[in-house]
Amino acid sequence: MKTQAFPFAFFQGEIVKIEDAKVSIMTNALQYGTGIFGGIRGYYNLDDKSVYVFRLDDHYKRFLSSARILGCDFPYSLEELKEITIDLIKKNNPKTDSYLRPFGYVGHTELGPNLANTTLDFSLYMIPLGEYLPVSKGLNLKVSTWERISDNAIPSRGKISGGYVNSALARKEATDGGYDEAVMLNKYGHVAEGSAENLFIVRDGKLITPDLSEGVLEGITRRSVFKLLQA
Ligand SMILES: Cc1ncc(COP(=O)(O)O)c(C=O)c1O
Repeated sequence: MKTQAFPFAFFQGEIVKIEDAKVSIMTNALQYGTGIFGGIRGYYNLDDKSVYVFRLDDHYKRFLSSARILGCDFPYSLEELKEITIDLIKKNNPKTDSYLRPFGYVGHTELGPNLANTTLDFSLYMIPLGEYLPVSKGLNLKVSTWERISDNAIPSRGKISGGYVNSALARKEATDGGYDEAVMLNKYGHVAEGSAENLFIVRDGKLITPDLSEGVLEGITRRSVFKLLQA
């Protein structure tokens, strides 16, 4: 299934047409999953016809810390990433809710999974997006037989491209079995997270969610829920 993107992307240092944002099949990140990414929501407000980006700072702080997990240099600062993002939103001028996908990747074409002395390349594109999962109707979840990758395998706390093969396997098993989504357990059999979302339960008036040490992404939504509870 082809996802329709907004017409412009940021690629190799400039805003270009999305169809010109292409990499070689030899790209290291494509071959070995040596990349990091983010997933940022832009909400279009019909009243003032503006886009409200959800926690841009937090998303890019996590993005840069994912780069540090790979031990790679990154060519842009937090402020520069924010500027690039705002410029791209202005250029695409969305009239719907959107999803922004920053991607930091090993862009060279050398053979071998080697992260040493590497500066990541950066790209950013946007797609229109409503609900990621059909949450308004409630979801059928399957406890996956795939174990969540542990922190000292591929740290789940960062959004590291290669780690998402683990998510994809769990998601496939769930949807092949007629479920909407997977619940992944860690190597201790403790609930970790879904294939692409943190999990919470409310029990006896208390909100319960796995600790970061259980092998989960440092979710921005997760942190926002904590903030709302403190308020
Ligand atoms: C594995 C995983 N857990 C949790 C989340 C939720 O993260 P956030 O709240 O930062 O969007 C995501 C988001 O894509 C994810 O991929």
